[in-house]
Amino acid sequence: MPVRVIVSLTVWDRAMAQITFVLPDGERRIIDAKAGESVMDAAIRHNIPGIEAECGGGCTCATCHIYIDGDWSKALGIPSEEEEDMLDFVYAVKATSRLSCQIHLSDDLDGLVVHIPRRQL
Ligand code: FES
Repeated sequence: MPVRVIVSLTVWDRAMAQITFVLPDGERRIIDAKAGESVMDAAIRHNIPGIEAECGGGCTCATCHIYIDGDWSKALGIPSEEEEDMLDFVYAVKATSRLSCQIHLSDDLDGLVVHIPRRQL
């Protein structure tokens, strides 16, 4: 008699990209992110310290600031005008500064490395 196996997968359950968070003290935390997640969502889900995300991803608080490592900035493209405006409020802004809630993950970002600033705002 044939055995029926039902496998239920949602896109949300599928790991898509591995992200490395480099903490201010140099500790590296590597996590698996899921489809549709922002870098901020993945950080919160994995209890990465230093990402406050007070507005929950609404691009209105600038407390999810990160620095993008190396050449990854090219892969991410440029921030939106709204994100650029909020980056004016972050602590120690750099050319590689981004708001983690505005970066949504895809296969292309597998291996992304980001740095957590010493503080938000
Ligand atoms: S979570 Fe508020 S701006 Fe990103």
